[in-house]
Amino acid sequence: MRAAPGLARLVPKPYGETPAWCYNGAVPGPEIRVRQGERLRIAVENGLAEETTIHWHGVRVPNAMDGVPHLNQPPIAPGGTFIYEFDAVDAGTFWYHPHQRSFEQVGRGLYGPLIVEEPEPPQVDREVVWVLDDWRLTRAAEISDDFGNGHDISHNGRIGNTVTINGHVQNTLPVRSGERIRLRLINAANARIFGLDFQDLKPTVIALDGQPVIPHAPADGLVALGPAMRVDLILDMTGKPGSRVQVVDRFYRGLEYRLVDLAYDETPLRDSTPDWPIALPANPIPEPDLAGANRHEVIFNGGMMGGIVMAEMGGSMGESRRNGMGGGMMGMMHGQSIWFINGKAAEGHVLDPMLTLERNRSHVIVMTNATAWHHPIHLHGHSFRVISRNGAPTPHREWQDTVLMAPREKVEIAFVADNSGDWMFHCHILEHQAGGMMGVIRVA
Ligand code: C2O
Ligand code: CU
Repeated sequence: MRAAPGLARLVPKPYGETPAWCYNGAVPGPEIRVRQGERLRIAVENGLAEETTIHWHGVRVPNAMDGVPHLNQPPIAPGGTFIYEFDAVDAGTFWYHPHQRSFEQVGRGLYGPLIVEEPEPPQVDREVVWVLDDWRLTRAAEISDDFGNGHDISHNGRIGNTVTINGHVQNTLPVRSGERIRLRLINAANARIFGLDFQDLKPTVIALDGQPVIPHAPADGLVALGPAMRVDLILDMTGKPGSRVQVVDRFYRGLEYRLVDLAYDETPLRDSTPDWPIALPANPIPEPDLAGANRHEVIFNGGMMGGIVMAEMGGSMGESRRNGMGGGMMGMMHGQSIWFINGKAAEGHVLDPMLTLERNRSHVIVMTNATAWHHPIHLHGHSFRVISRNGAPTPHREWQDTVLMAPREKVEIAFVADNSGDWMFHCHILEHQAGGMMGVIRVA
């Protein structure tokens, strides 16, 4: 794969094509699709004018293949190449993106889907992959170049004004009555959280972040996806031939918009809903032993929220100064180090571990979001079970690699630390990550 500048037809004519950064000349980059257990070998060539890497988000790869510059590998210099090689241990919906200045590199279009098929996938009529992205475009359909500005960093990230599915603003997806679709959703946006309402259709969630989950209807009827998260849905097309149904994104109150229409063909495919089984086979992830687990506390704070935050940040800022970490008040004033994990704001990828986890043991991380903002928190190298939210057990104990935390929410995750090495642990709102919301967890 080659990362290089190119043109993308994000918005329809009369707008022009948008100068973007592409893998193999396209946005999204090529779909990589393999069978579970197969080995991938991907040579990545850097045709950009700056360093890059690729991170295989959600894939449990060996540490040296994880794509974090300086931590796992030297960055790939302009003109250079790096060969990634790893096994697809888990079936599921994954994706790839750079981990070097990702707030700009991902924001300019560098990302793509990575699908690992089950040995025997559930029967469906059609599989559809939607890589969702949110762009901040100018009136000339160019990417606004205000990446990494202090306002985006200190608020809810780079929210854009143009949402694309697979690199285009889409109007309709043709469907047929009676059809069963497996829809794989991937949120590749820097910052936008989606809450998709499929209206009359009753989507069933069968996987989260690539990992099978007991099939269930989405909570509150909305399919929620924070940045980097994936959801696999089974969608039975129960509407009438010739009709249409809108898919509406309702995540941000008052800012609802129509994402796309599902448009039924005049000819039905079949008269009733198929009764084929939809549950996915489990992936080979070790089960954490909750009773014997080591417990660790992680607190996220920082960001803007008026008077309250400054008082609250006093503590963490003080601590970060004492530890000689973070940007202190000056950094914060420049909008750079404004987010803290356990009192520290990260600068760059060379980091001392914030936690060291004993290898092959079970660990529970108790995470508190002490901010006024949502944060999708991602751990590299592992999938974890989300076991509780605000003290209440989760109904599905879902495996995730990125967990969306609401403002003030407390979330417990559990996993066996079976993959040795230094792993990134960060907010996947890429502007928050750039603003310090990042740390390293060592498994040794
Ligand atoms: Cu999707 Cu640290 O990355
Ligand atoms: Cu965040």
